[in-house]
Amino acid sequence: MKWFLPALVTLPLALWGCDGGSSPGYPVEVPEARLASTEARERGRELYLRHCALCHGGRADGVGVRRNLSSRPQDFTDPSWPERITAAEIYHVIREGRSGTAMASWKIFDEQQTWDLVAYLLSVAKHAG
Ligand code: HEC
Repeated sequence: MKWFLPALVTLPLALWGCDGGSSPGYPVEVPEARLASTEARERGRELYLRHCALCHGGRADGVGVRRNLSSRPQDFTDPSWPERITAAEIYHVIREGRSGTAMASWKIFDEQQTWDLVAYLLSVAKHAG
């Protein structure tokens, strides 16, 4: 139950849902401790390899088996990537997809699994440095 803790210290993200930018249209509470958890990252990595690597690459560098996509998948090993996107935005893209692109909405994952994926993706950039 390690991930429960962050719910208490979560930023009031509801505020941020109002800026009309690329943020989700609903408040998302970011479970910071889960994002930092090795176990969550490992679970996320397993899900990633099974469901995402086809397009995003086995090394998460954006070079997957599928090459004929209309837009190039993000290179998650790029150290500047986490500076351009928030954990909540990553969560939102995985849940809702990007319309008009090959990035589908992944509602097969529950919220915890989606956060595990976010934890893994953010850890990739950090360790690639
Ligand atoms: C069929 C190919 C495909 C699969 C499978 C796929 N993606 Fe994507 N994904 C894409 C493409 C293409 C984009 C770029 C969309 C765009 O142009 O904005 C993308 C974008 C993203 C982004 C947004 C990155 C950013 O900075 O804008 C995230 C996060 C992401 N994918 C995560 C995942 C995860 C996690 C999975 C597995 C659950 C997954 N994707 C599976 C093709 C795929």
